[in-house]
Amino acid sequence: MPMPRLRTALDSLASYRPTDRTRGHHHLRPLSANESAHRSLPPVIAAVAEAGLDIHRYPDPGCAELTRELARRHGVDQGRVLVGAGSLALLQALFQAAGEPGAEVVYAWRSFELYPVLADLAWMRSVRVPLNDETHDLAAMATRITDATRLVLICNPNNPTGTVVGGDALQAFLDRVPPTCLVALDEAYVEYVGEPRVSSGLRLCDAYPNLVVLRTFSKAYGLAGLRVGYLVGAVDLVTQLRKACLAYAVNSVAQRAALAALGIEQELLRQVATTVAERQRIRKALLADGWDVPDCQGNFLWLRLGENSAAFGRWCLDAGIAVRVFDGEGIRVSIGAAPDNDAFRAAAQQWREKPPAVTAGALTDRCGA
Ligand SMILES: Cc1ncc(COP(=O)(O)O)c(C=O)c1O
Repeated sequence: MPMPRLRTALDSLASYRPTDRTRGHHHLRPLSANESAHRSLPPVIAAVAEAGLDIHRYPDPGCAELTRELARRHGVDQGRVLVGAGSLALLQALFQAAGEPGAEVVYAWRSFELYPVLADLAWMRSVRVPLNDETHDLAAMATRITDATRLVLICNPNNPTGTVVGGDALQAFLDRVPPTCLVALDEAYVEYVGEPRVSSGLRLCDAYPNLVVLRTFSKAYGLAGLRVGYLVGAVDLVTQLRKACLAYAVNSVAQRAALAALGIEQELLRQVATTVAERQRIRKALLADGWDVPDCQGNFLWLRLGENSAAFGRWCLDAGIAVRVFDGEGIRVSIGAAPDNDAFRAAAQQWREKPPAVTAGALTDRCGA
């Protein structure tokens, strides 16, 4: 049977494949998706339950209460805040708003794996600028901006390498970007940053009206399952971007839960501090075992394993741990609960003790994969 005719771009687009987190009937230790390791706290659960009573109604399409609260916290006008169904939906809105055939988007590579997908879907050409020592090469990125560039993405900390760009370097970069070119600073993991030279790009939004800063409730605020994020930018820009978002996309339960999470922010930030301490503990242990681990500032660590990445991913699976594999490049392991992190460290230690026997082929046999 012939297929209905669709966009040819879809033929070359790889489907997003999340890491499988079960094996047979067993749940693997979930260290593949950079979620919060902590279960929801009672005030958030109560807000979700209460919001459940009204789900026969449409949500507030403008997310007024949440927008008001975020604007208050960041000390900006409400018109400068846009709430979306996860920061991914807002990223998509940015691509939709900026993209058309011939337009280019500049971003570092490797970075968040969905940037190229969003670019393809929005008819934009991706200009990937290689990382330098696992970090954004802002100088090289600036040289790749041309008349065709409509969007520049900076992921800070970078997913999956965890590296950061400091405030001064960011500002120097923004000085080189034409004001007609939109810059999106993706701060999905900003709450986990311990580096003093990194400050949120939010303080730069006044000086650079072409800058938007994206935040999410999926990581530090523990609401990955509900899909809610937001961006902050100049009012005229945000007014236009709002038009590229689907009405009613942020459901009423997510809106209530996000407000409840803001209400217990201090407790959530204490959880973040626990995760940061775990990240430091595991990184130190891996370094002591001889691994090369960048100074990752998110809720994850990055191991550049090159051609051994897939085999190491299967090795972890065998040990009951799901990690994120970037074939031929490296693996990203989320910081989870201490026993899960310890299990990962033990698996990594065993891998190092047995490298000669662990060829990809031998592993394939062993895993039956
Ligand atoms: C860098 C980065 N940006 C954006 C997102 C999307 O987050 P969400 O849509 O859950 O807000 C993620 C998710 O992992 C991410 O790693």
